[in-house]
Amino acid sequence: EQPRIIRLEETTSTNNYLRGLVGKESLPEGSIVVTEYQTAGRGQVGNTWESEPGKNLMFSVILYPDFLPANRQFLISQIAALSVKETLDAYVDGITVKWPNDIYWHDQKICGMLIENDLTGHSLYCSVIGIGININQREFLSDALNPVSLVQITGREYDREEILNSFLKRLYDRYLGLLQEKEEEIRSAYMAALYRGNGFHPYQDEQGVFQACIQGIEPTGHLILKTDNGEVRRYAFKEVSVVN
Ligand code: BTN
Repeated sequence: EQPRIIRLEETTSTNNYLRGLVGKESLPEGSIVVTEYQTAGRGQVGNTWESEPGKNLMFSVILYPDFLPANRQFLISQIAALSVKETLDAYVDGITVKWPNDIYWHDQKICGMLIENDLTGHSLYCSVIGIGININQREFLSDALNPVSLVQITGREYDREEILNSFLKRLYDRYLGLLQEKEEEIRSAYMAALYRGNGFHPYQDEQGVFQACIQGIEPTGHLILKTDNGEVRRYAFKEVSVVN
């Protein structure tokens, strides 16, 4: 069955909209919801996602990765992040993936992702990958997320449809790679794409700020940092952040 493409002028959040269809309507794998404007766009850690109408890309894709055990959900984050990074590489230099799945241009955030997985038993059932990429927006109301857009970087406006199609093609390729168990390939591409992947940088956890370098990332997605006094620390999402 062909994936559906649902285009909405406005919605609360494409993640909410897509998740609302699961189990109610036929929703083939790879179906997407795209919108021009979200009235309640959601970010990670309860943040909101700001985007001027008609300027950027905001969409959600549904996958059914039932071949993945629940403790390998991070692979979905990795393929989504790599697909955005590789898409944007065609337009500008300096794109990296900030663990776990923000996309940065140098020290600024150009894309955010909200991935919501549903499980059945110990496997994944469906994964809703919500993505916001800043494209033609020239100014942002809030600097909280340290945002940047393609137009701010190059001074040119971009065809959002072309960027969306390029992303979807890469995501399907990466997803096929996952089906073919090319996990090592995904892992090494992700490590190579990391923001501040080498050397010591400031991090902040609930204890305070410290200098550390990335020692590794576990298959579960936990970040392993080595501090400047040799201590190894292990973090789940949201337990640590990079200080800019
Ligand atoms: C973040 O960086 O905090 C995640 C932002 C995710 C934003 C996208 S826009 C499309 C989709 N729908 C939402 O409500 N959020 C995601």
